[in-house]
Amino acid sequence: MFSFKNLLSALSLVALVHALPAKPIQRRTGFGSMCSTTQFNLSNSVPADFNFTQPNTTFPTFVALSVGTQNYTCGDDGTWSPIGAITELYDISCIPQEEHANFTTMIADMWENSPNTWTSEDIVLSTEAANGPTALGMHYWISDPNNATSGKIFAKWDFGMSRMMEVTDMNTAFVVCSETDVVPDPINPVLNSAWLYEPVLYVDGQKDGQLADQVYRFNSNGGSAPNTTCRANFDFLQVKSTLNFWFYGGAWVNTTSSS
Ligand SMILES: *[C@@H]1O[C@H](CO)[C@@H](O)[C@H](O)[C@H]1NC(C)=O
Ligand SMILES: *[C@@H]1O[C@H](CO)[C@@H](O)[C@H](O)[C@H]1NC(C)=O
Ligand SMILES: *[C@@H]1O[C@H](CO)[C@@H](O)[C@H](O)[C@H]1NC(C)=O
Ligand SMILES: *[C@@H]1O[C@H](CO)[C@@H](O)[C@H](O)[C@H]1NC(C)=O
Ligand SMILES: *[C@@H]1O[C@H](CO)[C@@H](O)[C@H](O)[C@H]1NC(C)=O
Ligand SMILES: *[C@@H]1O[C@H](CO)[C@@H](O)[C@H](O)[C@H]1NC(C)=O
Ligand SMILES: *[C@@H]1O[C@H](CO)[C@@H](O)[C@H](O)[C@H]1NC(C)=O
Ligand SMILES: *[C@@H]1O[C@H](CO)[C@@H](O)[C@H](O)[C@H]1NC(C)=O
Repeated sequence: MFSFKNLLSALSLVALVHALPAKPIQRRTGFGSMCSTTQFNLSNSVPADFNFTQPNTTFPTFVALSVGTQNYTCGDDGTWSPIGAITELYDISCIPQEEHANFTTMIADMWENSPNTWTSEDIVLSTEAANGPTALGMHYWISDPNNATSGKIFAKWDFGMSRMMEVTDMNTAFVVCSETDVVPDPINPVLNSAWLYEPVLYVDGQKDGQLADQVYRFNSNGGSAPNTTCRANFDFLQVKSTLNFWFYGGAWVNTTSSS
């Protein structure tokens, strides 16, 4: 059984892994990625036959590890229905892309085995002390910004709580997206969340946040509800989830492109 301390140590590795090879970590000014993201290529992580809408820029602005929980309630039909998630986001730009899938699985194994008393909120509080700059921010869901009564929820990524606490324009620190391309996880579609392409949501003709224009979700570990029946409108479930998000475009696209 891994302790939570081990999880923290593993997350500290995010910073350490790249300190060993020749290339030192470059602390970015302007709130961008910790290391250059120019070498990252989505085609090497997401199979071409997923037919995902391609990114509009050649490399991502941020690459993140997401650790947290997905919440479910029991729907009228007696099956689990997603009602959002809270996850903490960490900068993994200093880890080579070919290591990302295995690194994410390693963190997932530790998170799965950490005590039930630990919440994702505990992670961010602890890791910010332990890891400082690797904490990017939080991922959670909000109600439909375009229609308060639609009952829909939308994914939001908010770096204003960690990485971009001091930006002058907080609109550049978050983004809200919809989901347009959804493909079942290629390894275990029952246990692992689907892979997603998520373009920025427009509200009153404006982008809802300038953190990014396009977000991709992949390398999923956990997150899906079990395929079991439940008691309608009564049962509640939290499922641990560990995966990657890549962010393309947005206000910081040129902050990370140099070097
Ligand atoms: C991608 O498109 C091809 C050709 O239309 C199709 O055969 C394949 O099933 C699609 N892949 C997915 C994951 O939908
Ligand atoms: C990304 O990788 C694919 C396949 O390996 C390649 O065709 C493409 O040119 C690469 N894109 C960039 C921007 O280097
Ligand atoms: C998920 O469940 C936890 C525990 O009840 C709660 O604190 C959190 O607000 C929930 N989040 C969402 C998005 O439902
Ligand atoms: C990732 O883990 C798998 C399974 O243990 C292993 O076969 C593969 O070589 C690893 N990939 C890298 C890049 O280390
Ligand atoms: C908002 O959602 C409700 C419920 O789905 C729907 O009846 C209504 O037409 C929607 N309003 C707009 C402006 O789309
Ligand atoms: C990507 O670029 C295309 C072509 O310019 C544009 O239509 C689309 O809106 C862009 N997508 C996003 C999410 O910005
Ligand atoms: C869920 O379980 C039902 C009943 O056992 C089965 O028919 C269905 O195919 C399962 N779905 C998945 C995604 O495994
Ligand atoms: C990034 O730089 C390019 C080239 O100078 C420019 O065309 C683009 O508008 C810049 N993007 C942003 C979001 O500032």
